Amino acid sequence: MTPILFVTDLDHTLVGDDFAHEQLNEWLLEARSIGGKVVYSTGRSRIRYQELALEAPLFDPDLLIASVGTAIYSSLDGAPDPEWQKKLTAGWDRDRVMAITAHFADLVLQPETEQSAFKVSFLLTEEAAIELLPQLDHLLKQQGLDVQLIYSSGRDLDLLPRYANKGSALTFVRQTLGFPPENTIVCGDSGNDIALFAAGSELGIIVGNAQPELLSWHRDHPTPNHYLAKSHCAAGILEGLQYFGFR
Ligand code: GLC
Ligand code: MG
Repeated sequence: MTPILFVTDLDHTLVGDDFAHEQLNEWLLEARSIGGKVVYSTGRSRIRYQELALEAPLFDPDLLIASVGTAIYSSLDGAPDPEWQKKLTAGWDRDRVMAITAHFADLVLQPETEQSAFKVSFLLTEEAAIELLPQLDHLLKQQGLDVQLIYSSGRDLDLLPRYANKGSALTFVRQTLGFPPENTIVCGDSGNDIALFAAGSELGIIVGNAQPELLSWHRDHPTPNHYLAKSHCAAGILEGLQYFGFR
């Protein structure tokens, strides 16, 4: 078997079905023993990742991509990759972004742990999002701010530098670790994972419990590289690995 780079979202993708997760862990550890790498790519900050790691059967990954692609950790207690941090500064003015979002009463700031130098995150209802997102996008552009708006699960709105998302972080990590896209598998369930699937020709597994925004993106971008599983969470990943002939 060729060494595989395995990049997966956590909440509602790898995490959510402990029995299937533990079964998948066996496959992942075996893949790692022959040169594969396991990378977790989560919307959570590192602190909230560590909370999850206490509850779920997660082993330490080779790399952690945290905060929706805005921080890459090669060690769970070290500093984020400085080369990556540097790339994110281009065109990003956090204070001005904050000032503009203050005009919208429907935007409710997420907890302090989920705010960082390169990520501003809010809670936003699905009903309010319909009108608010185009207005906010327009206002940011009008002010000359090149910001990415990522809305996930009908609840979470992330404002990120143009260059940062789970997809660009995946490409950076894949190239750093030296894996070609065809030996890379990505897995996800929601809006912030769209960038993982859109990054290039990597193989992708969308779990059966995926959110509407990812399902509709998948319908609009059909490719034999992506598999939509019937099973949920880790069981869906196991199903996808079987579909692609990895197990
Ligand atoms: C995680 C993060 C949150 C983010 C969401 C969607 O839940 O904690 O800050 O908004 O993922 O990316
Ligand atoms: Mg998720």
